[in-house]
Amino acid sequence: MIDAMLTRQCSFAFRLALVLSCTTSALAAQSFNGFWRSVQQMPDGNRSETVFLLQQEGSRLTGKVELPWSDYPLRNGVVHGKAFYFEIQLGASTWSYKGEIGHSGLKMVFHKPNASDVRLTAEPATTDFYPSTPPVPAPALHSVAPNGLALTPPMGWNSWNHFEGDIDDATVRKIADALVSTGMRDAGYVYVNIDDTWEGSRDDQGRIQPNRKFSDMKGLAGYLHARGLKLGLYSSPGPQTCGGYPGSYGYEELDAQTYAAWGVDYLKYDWCSAFRIYQDRDMRAIYQKMGDALLRSGRPIVYSLCQYGKEDVWTWGRLAGGNLWRTTNDIHNSYSRMAEIGFSQSALAAWSGPGGWNDPDMLEIGNGNLTVDESHTHMTLWAMLAAPLIAGNDLRSMSKETSSILLNREVIAIDQDPLGKQAQRVISDGSVEVWQRPLADGSSAVAIFNRSSSSQPAHFKWSSLGYAEAPQLRDLWKHVPLSEDGADFSAELPPHGVILLRAVQR
Ligand code: GLA
Repeated sequence: MIDAMLTRQCSFAFRLALVLSCTTSALAAQSFNGFWRSVQQMPDGNRSETVFLLQQEGSRLTGKVELPWSDYPLRNGVVHGKAFYFEIQLGASTWSYKGEIGHSGLKMVFHKPNASDVRLTAEPATTDFYPSTPPVPAPALHSVAPNGLALTPPMGWNSWNHFEGDIDDATVRKIADALVSTGMRDAGYVYVNIDDTWEGSRDDQGRIQPNRKFSDMKGLAGYLHARGLKLGLYSSPGPQTCGGYPGSYGYEELDAQTYAAWGVDYLKYDWCSAFRIYQDRDMRAIYQKMGDALLRSGRPIVYSLCQYGKEDVWTWGRLAGGNLWRTTNDIHNSYSRMAEIGFSQSALAAWSGPGGWNDPDMLEIGNGNLTVDESHTHMTLWAMLAAPLIAGNDLRSMSKETSSILLNREVIAIDQDPLGKQAQRVISDGSVEVWQRPLADGSSAVAIFNRSSSSQPAHFKWSSLGYAEAPQLRDLWKHVPLSEDGADFSAELPPHGVILLRAVQR
């Protein structure tokens, strides 16, 4: 009965019932109080650890779950006899843990949305995650010399948005083939970036090895290079990546050398567990450490900072050697999250430019949750923002619609404009926004967005964009010139839709 009810994720009524019944029922013989460590053996050979700190008061269970990148307080925690249930909240996503305490520890079923349930056991532990790691002094700040890379925003593909941990050598090679056969490579998408979960253990000399999903990184790099593509990898300044794989903490120099020896061309360096070792205020120094190490490796490696926009990274990312820096927390496969991120970037325009770019995260186009108009908006916004264009879909099975969006050369040309000036919002009129971006040839890109879920009329005066009258216009989604004249622009925009224009002064 309890099991069946717990399966329903502990409704409020049930929790209330537990509270009442627990006041009279006998509690478990063993105490929930204290640290518990759960180790999950992953199919790729990695051991993924989670630490729980539990505190029981009657039928109430509080405490925290320590994940590699953050601690999360328990919510809705209840105990009934030996049975327990609790949740943690990660943004919009609720993860739940339901199980029983026994003499050998906790046995539970871990549930997260859109994933299979996982059975976990946890044993009593004496401390939390990295108890014996000494605090590391941050190196003195200096400016890392520019590496001369990413003079336009990097373009490529990354495994995380679609595959998460379900990525291996064979799949990456097929993605590489698809980049070539679909024309993506020739349109500029050259970086093939393997995100988290490639890492294995370290050998006797401390050198990082790929796990069994990636037997031969150098061979994979060779495969990509032979096809005019480039290899990207992922690591963390902390001891663990966000997925719980080995990070570069204490091995920064050696890892940079290993990447260079394999032929790696791009590194995404994700803060994750570094928060357990360092102070946020030391981020610049910590990122500088890897920036220096990459430069010293002697190989040109694009350096992608991923710390979710903390500490105003745009003000120092370049000085730490970064070619791009994430400006926000993670994108999700939804219009609302994409729009929340994309439309919040206007004030950061001044910090982005050749060699160092604001990065509003990877693309979700082709991952199944955006309408065609929403995908146009996503691609347009990113192009206007001079954002890195890192596709995040399964390129092996891309629809014609998706490929025509990702491959729109006129939109890509806006993104890759050599002036490298990011767009800013110039008009905000209800749900309609107009953004403008100056281009190298003296023209400008003008995007008219409808953020509403119903069709909306858009109307503005060309004078508010600095034109005395309608400039010569070309519609970059319809690929046609627009015959507009007069002082005003008017159009009807579809729900969550956009018109993208190239405007040339007459
Ligand atoms: C963080 C990053 C994501 C991805 C995952 C991998 O959440 O922001 O882009 O790299 O880690 O674990």
